[in-house]
Amino acid sequence: MQKGFLVTGVDDLSVGRLTNIDSIINNDNFTFMKCDISNSKDLNSIGNDFDYVFHLAALADIVPSIENPKRYFEVNVSGTVNLLEHCKNSNIKKFIYAASSSCYGIPDKYPTSENSDIRTEYPYAMTKHLGELCVTHWCKVYNMPFLSLRLFNVYGPRARTSGTYGAVFGVLLAQRANNKPLTIVGDGMQTRDFTFVTDVVSAFIAGAESQIKNIIFNVGSGGTYAINYLADLIGGPRIYIPKRPGEPECTFADIRQIKKELEWQPYISFEEGVKVMINNIEHWKDAPIWDRDSIGKATEKWFAFLDKKA
Ligand SMILES: NC(=O)c1ccc[n+]([C@@H]2O[C@H](COP(=O)([O-])OP(=O)(O)OC[C@H]3O[C@@H](n4cnc5c(N)ncnc54)[C@H](O)[C@@H]3O)[C@@H](O)[C@H]2O)c1
Repeated sequence: MQKGFLVTGVDDLSVGRLTNIDSIINNDNFTFMKCDISNSKDLNSIGNDFDYVFHLAALADIVPSIENPKRYFEVNVSGTVNLLEHCKNSNIKKFIYAASSSCYGIPDKYPTSENSDIRTEYPYAMTKHLGELCVTHWCKVYNMPFLSLRLFNVYGPRARTSGTYGAVFGVLLAQRANNKPLTIVGDGMQTRDFTFVTDVVSAFIAGAESQIKNIIFNVGSGGTYAINYLADLIGGPRIYIPKRPGEPECTFADIRQIKKELEWQPYISFEEGVKVMINNIEHWKDAPIWDRDSIGKATEKWFAFLDKKA
């Protein structure tokens, strides 16, 4: 919108919240449409006169994907196909897909490059990867330019604060905001390539504006950070809970390709990003507060199905 584009935001509000877009909802250049991408008829209401499609709508999180893989397939795979079908006869300049680094599972090599093996460990990862395969296939057959951006551990203010047990930032910040101990998985030495949301947004914009097309890029921060270090920055007491099967000890994107091709780079250091999160900690005040018992209950199926040694 700042660049003069007319923007339509589409979400079924199953997870997303309108309060997150308070600051733009009344902007003349913005329209919001409530629409379920898994229902192809619903998509007719959004029209198809778009230059760029940024496809981020998805069911995220691991635990509910293990409990309800069919719904994950309907949204993340069939929903993606519905959107591709919707776009294929229009003249879009680029279709940009938010793919997931979870496709690499537990990789052999760090930093992990785009041509690493695909090892999806749970239904969320599998459906996001199938979505990516659909994007690359549809775009090839129907001649639509695309980019697929494999995102690594994105975080930012107003990230989801309700619902299922999920991303570490939401869990730890809700605990901190309510003076409860931080629950650290395993020994907390595992590291994640935490990428600040504004850097991810700039990758999507650089991707849209560039002449580069029909390629998959990793989008990461250029570093990888231990959960214990994150807990140090957040502060407060902590407790340790069992390590979970199927999760890597490290996520760390090799971002040489996107830096070279799109001339994009991440700008926000981990310390700066965490500071922004802490400055916005009131967003997590009324979020669900997880503890050892509720996490144990919420992840029962995770252990039951993914722990092949059990
Ligand atoms: N956050 C990360 O670390 C990360 C990493 C890799 C990939 N991604 C991908 O980036 C995208 C955004 O992730 P996020 O972390 O912001 O998750 P999120 O859950 O906050 O956002 C996903 C949005 O999709 C909407 N949605 C769900 N089902 C829908 C449907 N049937 N129709 C329309 N909208 C629907 C939800 O309401 C929600 O607002 C997702 O595609 C996710 O797979 C995120």
